[in-house]
Amino acid sequence: MLYSNLGINEKGHLTVGGIDTADLAAEYGTPLYVMDEDVLRANCRTYVQAMHNFFGEHAAPLYASKALCFKGIYPIIESEGMFADVVSPGEVYTALAAGFPAEKLFFHGTNKTDEDIRYGVSSGIGRFVVDNINELRSLDRIAGELGKKQKLLLRLTVGLDPHTLEAINTGRVDSQFGVPIDTGQADEFVREALACENIEVTGFHSHVGSQIFESDSFNRQVEILAGYAAKMKEETGFVIKELNIGGGLGVRYTEADPLLDIPGRIAEIASHLKNECERLGLDVPRVFMEPGRSIVANAGLTLYTTGGTKEVKGYRNYVTVDGGMADNPRYALYKSEYTVLNASRMDDVADYECSIAGRCCESGDRIAEFIKIAEPERGDIIAVLTTGAYNYSMASNYNRLPRPAMVMISGGSARLVIRRESFEDMIRNEL
Ligand code: LLP
Repeated sequence: MLYSNLGINEKGHLTVGGIDTADLAAEYGTPLYVMDEDVLRANCRTYVQAMHNFFGEHAAPLYASKALCFKGIYPIIESEGMFADVVSPGEVYTALAAGFPAEKLFFHGTNKTDEDIRYGVSSGIGRFVVDNINELRSLDRIAGELGKKQKLLLRLTVGLDPHTLEAINTGRVDSQFGVPIDTGQADEFVREALACENIEVTGFHSHVGSQIFESDSFNRQVEILAGYAAKMKEETGFVIKELNIGGGLGVRYTEADPLLDIPGRIAEIASHLKNECERLGLDVPRVFMEPGRSIVANAGLTLYTTGGTKEVKGYRNYVTVDGGMADNPRYALYKSEYTVLNASRMDDVADYECSIAGRCCESGDRIAEFIKIAEPERGDIIAVLTTGAYNYSMASNYNRLPRPAMVMISGGSARLVIRRESFEDMIRNEL
C-alpha cells in the first residue's frame, strides 16, 4: 500500500486511519474528501524540526495555503509552529477568520490590487512578498497613507528550469512571477525598494517550481540567491536578513514516484546555503520555506461511488464515479497520475484495466487512465489517493456539481470540517 495510514479490514474494505472508508461514505456521502490529521501534523513536524535542525531556531516553514485553504487547517498548522503563505485576499480572509495571527502571514500574489494591498497592510500582515515594481510603488504609497512601515521580501526569478510540469514551473527567466536576476531588472527593483520610505526590505524570495524531486534545482537556487545577496551588499550596502526559498518538494502519487527524504533534502539545501554564505562573507539569513503539496497531499484521499463499468468493445473499459474534474481537475489539466483503489474489494485481485471517468459532460473528465483495480460493481466505493493538495482548492461547480464535503480524521474518529455544498449554496448569489 502506498501509505502506512491505509489498511484493509475483515470485510475487505479499505481503511484510513483505522476507519472503514465504506462507513465514511455511508455517513457523509460521496464524493468525499478525507484528510488524516495525524499525517498532516506529522508532515508539519518533519519540516519544523528539520528546518530548526539545519537552518537554526529562527527558520520556519510557511504552509502554502493555495494547496488546501479552509478555516480548519489554520489552527492545525499554527499549533505545529508553522507560518502561512497566502496569495489572495480570500486566503488572507480565511486565515484571519480562523484566528491565525496576521503577523505570521506572508502575502504573495502576482497582481495584488490596491484594494488587496490596503487590506493586507491594514490587517497587520507580517510580510508582503512583492512581485513587481508596480506593486512595490503602490505598497509604499498605501503603507504611507496608513501610517505604517510594511515589512516585505522581494520576489526574484533565479532563471532555473526544474524538470517538472510546464504549467507548475515558476522559476524560469520567462515567467510572470517575480523579477528576473539575469536581465538586470532585479537590480533596479532592489534599489528602488531600498529607497522607499514606508517599507522595510527584509530579504528575497524565490520559488523554482512544484513537484520537484531532484536536488539540483534547490542547491543552485540558494547559490544564486546567496551570490545575488553578496552582489547587492557590495553595490548598495544592503544586507538580507531573510531568505524565502519557496516550496516545491515532490510527493508520491504512484509507486513509480520516489519517496522524498525531506529532512535529508533540507540538510543538503542548508549546507549549500551555509557554504555559499561563508565563501561570500555573508551572515546566514533567517530561512523560510513554503511547502504546500508535501504538507497536505498524502494526508488526503477522495472517496467516490461508482456508477459501474462501461466496456467500449475493442477500445477500453470505463469505471464511472460520482465526481471527477469538478472536485479534482488535475488529470484534466496536467495529466497527473493517481493511485486508485476499489475500496470495497481490497481482497480481490486488481486486474481490471480501466479508465476512471467523471460525471461531467466533457470527454476530458478523467481521474486516471489505463490503470488496474479490482473489477467494481455499481455502488462500490472508489478511493483516489494523494488528493489532499490542489483538489478542494481547485474544485469548481462545473456542470453545477456541488463541492464535496471534507472530513478530518484523527485518533480513529472523523469530524466534518467542510459541509457539502447544497444546490441552494450554488444559487445563493444569483439575482
Ligand atoms: N510558494 C510559491 C510562491 C508557489 O507558487 C507555490 C506553488 C508554493 C509555494 C507551494 O508549492 P508546493 O510545495 O505545493 O509544490 N496547481 C498545481 C500546483 C501549482 C503550484 C503553484 N505554486 C498542481 O495541482 O500541481
